[in-house]
Amino acid sequence: MLSPDYVNSHLDSHLGQRQVNKIQHGFPSPRFWNELSVPIDEIAEDRRRLREADGPSPVFLYVGVPYCIQTDPGKCGYCLFPVEEFRGNAALEDYYGYVEREAELYRGQMEGSVLAGAYFGGGTSNLYKAPVYHGLMDMVRRLFPDIREEADLTLEGIPQLFSWEKMQAIRDSGMNRISMGVQQINERLNSFSGRKQTTKHVIQSLEWARELGLAANVDLIFGWPQQTVDTMLEDLETLISWDVYDITHYELNVGGPTDFALNRFHELPSTLANLEMYRAGRDFLLDHGYEQLSTYNFRRPGDPASRDFREGYSPRLERVDALGLGYAAITFFGNPALPPGRSWSFINHQNLAKYKEAVDNGRFPIERGFQHTPEDFLLTVLFRSLIGTEIDRTRYRVGFGLDIYEKFATVWDALAERGYAQITPERIQLVGDGPFYAPMISTLIAEERYRELREEAAQRKKGARRPVAASRGGQ
Ligand SMILES: C[S@@+](CC[C@H](N)C(=O)[O-])C[C@H]1O[C@@H](n2cnc3c(N)ncnc32)[C@H](O)[C@@H]1O
Ligand code: SF4
Repeated sequence: MLSPDYVNSHLDSHLGQRQVNKIQHGFPSPRFWNELSVPIDEIAEDRRRLREADGPSPVFLYVGVPYCIQTDPGKCGYCLFPVEEFRGNAALEDYYGYVEREAELYRGQMEGSVLAGAYFGGGTSNLYKAPVYHGLMDMVRRLFPDIREEADLTLEGIPQLFSWEKMQAIRDSGMNRISMGVQQINERLNSFSGRKQTTKHVIQSLEWARELGLAANVDLIFGWPQQTVDTMLEDLETLISWDVYDITHYELNVGGPTDFALNRFHELPSTLANLEMYRAGRDFLLDHGYEQLSTYNFRRPGDPASRDFREGYSPRLERVDALGLGYAAITFFGNPALPPGRSWSFINHQNLAKYKEAVDNGRFPIERGFQHTPEDFLLTVLFRSLIGTEIDRTRYRVGFGLDIYEKFATVWDALAERGYAQITPERIQLVGDGPFYAPMISTLIAEERYRELREEAAQRKKGARRPVAASRGGQ
């Protein structure tokens, strides 16, 4: 266990630093996902065995798209996701055919599973023309004939690409929610991203969604170049005045060769200013009747179109089956009931040609993965709980047979002393500024295991100085 002194000095030195947010990948950071041969047959077998033992297992499905419309600066100036430039509908429809074929590869092993939710993300999923949404949902139904009544089936897109015809097809296909990447409503600030998005696009899409009975989420980003607390609050106020029930409020993640990192770094609010924005945004939303569902998600109760859904949420937190289809899609699969080494995270090819080549050859288009030890899998689940701001000690006792407080007691105690967490016999709750620091807290919690992984990577590098045979087979 980390010593109290180490934990406190880590907190002291990191509270003022800009956070790097890879928390959505679970544990560990993708740079440790170096296993080129992911045993998908073994995973398929484990899926079957777990279903036999526990009954139909709920699966979350993610379907990715590589393409985005061109912007100047590129990649909206800030985006760190792998994407490819949109070059016309023919390439998009060709890609879609590949996703259908990839889904077929999984059909046998998913038999008997039940779909708990699906997210069509990206890239930009509302680049598809209207008829394709029906095709996407037909594909989902072939893979999962059993879809839970309350399953949330969300399609993500950008405001200027929605049309009435598309929105109607989205609804008629059986999807029930849209998520719009708006980032800034303030048109001057938004123009830094090179997107040709206007306030009219946003409000029009929201109106169409409402008319059609689709639930709608809006993504905003705070910590944007030249943004102030006032401009941020104006945007939130506008969303509230438009009756948007679901708001995702991300802190800007800065990095890579993006325009914001290279050319606008000096215009970014400081870390302290970001913290002030987080506080002001949270308080504003809470004051207006929203509930904080996670570090980033706020929801106002009473939306006639919404389901009781939390992204990635499952009543049994230790059973993880999130299947990713398409370019750069990520799959998480794990369960403490499995023998050690049988839980995995893996990512599909982030190179479109390689993705297609694998599917053309009837292979799972997996680029690389990470084989979890039981400790790693526990950390992955804990990272998710941290995003959700609540760690339910009873569920960890049932799922993992341990007291999650005792396991990381020095960290929880230090957080509690600083007013970032509240500890009760039932749960550990991130409070105050705690949710803002969730990415930093998760890195601290995983510190000891990260040290080991870095050590293992260094050893492997030494060993790899001898010639290696190509090993990208076996999938
Ligand atoms: C990967 S995008 C895909 C959806 C769509 N293409 C869009 O841009 O809205 C999903 C969301 O991730 C968030 N996002 C992307 N890059 C980010 C960054 N560098 N920092 C924080 N959030 C980011 C944005 O809020 C965006 O709406
Ligand atoms: S922010 Fe969205 S539209 Fe922009 S590059 Fe990233 S995924 Fe594409």
